[in-house]
Amino acid sequence: MKLGVNIDHIAVLREARKINDPDPIDALGIVARAGGYQITIHLREDRRHIQDEDATHIVALSHLPVNIECALSDEIIDIVCRLKPHRATIVPEKRQEVTTEGGLDVIGHASSLQKAIAKLHQAGIAVSLFIDPEHAVIEASYRLGASMVELHTGTYANLYASLYSNLSRTKHAIPAYTSLSRVELEQKLEEATNALHLSADFAFSLGLEVAAGHGLNYQNVFAIANIGAISELNIGQSIVARSVFVGLERAIVEMKQCLI
Ligand code: PXP
Repeated sequence: MKLGVNIDHIAVLREARKINDPDPIDALGIVARAGGYQITIHLREDRRHIQDEDATHIVALSHLPVNIECALSDEIIDIVCRLKPHRATIVPEKRQEVTTEGGLDVIGHASSLQKAIAKLHQAGIAVSLFIDPEHAVIEASYRLGASMVELHTGTYANLYASLYSNLSRTKHAIPAYTSLSRVELEQKLEEATNALHLSADFAFSLGLEVAAGHGLNYQNVFAIANIGAISELNIGQSIVARSVFVGLERAIVEMKQCLI
C-alpha cells in the first residue's frame, strides 16, 4: 500500500501566525526518509494553507511524486498545468467548509470536468477524481478519461468516530448520527465499509487505479488498508497531529506500520 502524505496541515500551523515556519518544504525530505510514496497538497481557491509559492517550490524540490488536489476552477487548473506535478486530483471545494466534505459531482459537472481533464492531460499530468464510493460515479469517471479515482472515506471515518471515539466530536457535527443507536451505527459502518470495498473492486475491474482518503487515522485505517483493490491512501490530519508529539518521521513510520 502506497502512502501519500498530505502536508497541508503544516501550512495551516504556519498560516495561523502568517510567518515562515513551520515550512512545508522541510517535510519533503522527512516524508521520503520515512518511506512515504508521495507528497499530497491541496492548493485551495481561498489559499487558506498552501500558497502558490509553496506549490511551486514543492513541485520543483520534491524527489517524491507530487499530487496536487485542486478544485474544478479555471484559475487553479491553469496553475496546476503550469506547475506540472505528477498528478492532479480534482476535488469539490466550498469556501465555508472546514475540509473537503464529499465527493465530486462527476455526473453533474461532466462537461467542465471533461475539459479540465483534457487540459491536464495535454500538460502531461495524470488525473484522479475524488469521488464518493458509488458505481455510477465510478463509471462516469472512467468515461471522462480519468486514470484514477480516490474514494472518499469521510462517511466511513465519521461513523467510526461516532462509534469508537471518546469525544464523539464527529457525531456532534453530524446530526443524522446522533439519533442512531449503537446497533444502527454499527450497521451503517458495515455498509460504508462494504460500499468502499465494492467500489474499489468495480473501479479496479475497469482498469482504474484506486486510492482512498479523508479522515483516516491510526485506528480506523486497518479495514481500508485491507481492501486489495486500493493501492494508495492519502492521509494528512492524523499524521500531522501525531507528529506534534513524536515528530513527523516517526508519525509516518507508525502509519506505514498500520498499512502492512
Ligand atoms: N484526500 C483528499 C482528496 C483530500 O481532500 C484530503 C483532505 O485534504 C485528504 C485525502 C486527506 O484527508 P485527512 O487530512 O483527513 O487525512
